[in-house]
Amino acid sequence: MYFIANWKMFGDSKTLKSLNNVINFVKKNKNKRFKMIYCPPFTLISSMSAKLAKSAVQVGGQNCHHAKNYGAYTGSVNPKMLKDAGAEYVILGHSENRQNGEDDKLINLKVKNSIDEGLNIIFCIGETLKEKKNKKTFSTLSKQLRIGLNKIKNIKKIIIAYEPVWSIGTGIIPNNDDLFNTISFIKKKIKHQSAKVLYGGSVNNKNINELKKIKNLDGFLIGGASQDTKKLIDIIQKTYN
Ligand code: 13P
Repeated sequence: MYFIANWKMFGDSKTLKSLNNVINFVKKNKNKRFKMIYCPPFTLISSMSAKLAKSAVQVGGQNCHHAKNYGAYTGSVNPKMLKDAGAEYVILGHSENRQNGEDDKLINLKVKNSIDEGLNIIFCIGETLKEKKNKKTFSTLSKQLRIGLNKIKNIKKIIIAYEPVWSIGTGIIPNNDDLFNTISFIKKKIKHQSAKVLYGGSVNNKNINELKKIKNLDGFLIGGASQDTKKLIDIIQKTYN
């Protein structure tokens, strides 16, 4: 199981100290086959990678620019720069960036160039509330997968995160049957049985007891609750209890 912490515009040099708990927890629980990845803001990628260098916990970025090389793109970071800073993963297609105008084609280019630089991709898809109400969930997901992963051969480098937009930061999660069906729809679409599909959206240390019952899930992408190390550790412990 994957437990990925998305520290959305959160964290500073002091916050990094809270990772000591995580480092110890991961060391003590080597036998449980879970994988932890922290995706902090760009400003913390180097320092977090250094802090986690001896731990099994890995680091990822939250987005990147599509360009392969340096360029006049104020405020941006390309995949090569992420890799150089210590990231092994990058979140792409997050709905918070889609809402800012990133379309499927641009995301596809980012996926390609990030894979070329040796990064693994946490590829986010999800329908809005309006799309859900209009029964467009599956067609939305199909389109996001079809264009976003167009001509991507190395599916092993990709972890899919299903994050319904209406569940992000709202405290509302899909019911287990719907989630099971959506996850199996995604797995069928990508025609790769070993593909990993995670759920993200308001995951916390209370609803994990329900979410962990979903048999075809390969883990969780966690926003708010991941900012508190104790909560994140609690989520992992409860998943295995
Ligand atoms: P929350 O867990 O805060 O709802 O965020 C989910 C998310 O968007 C993770 O990428």
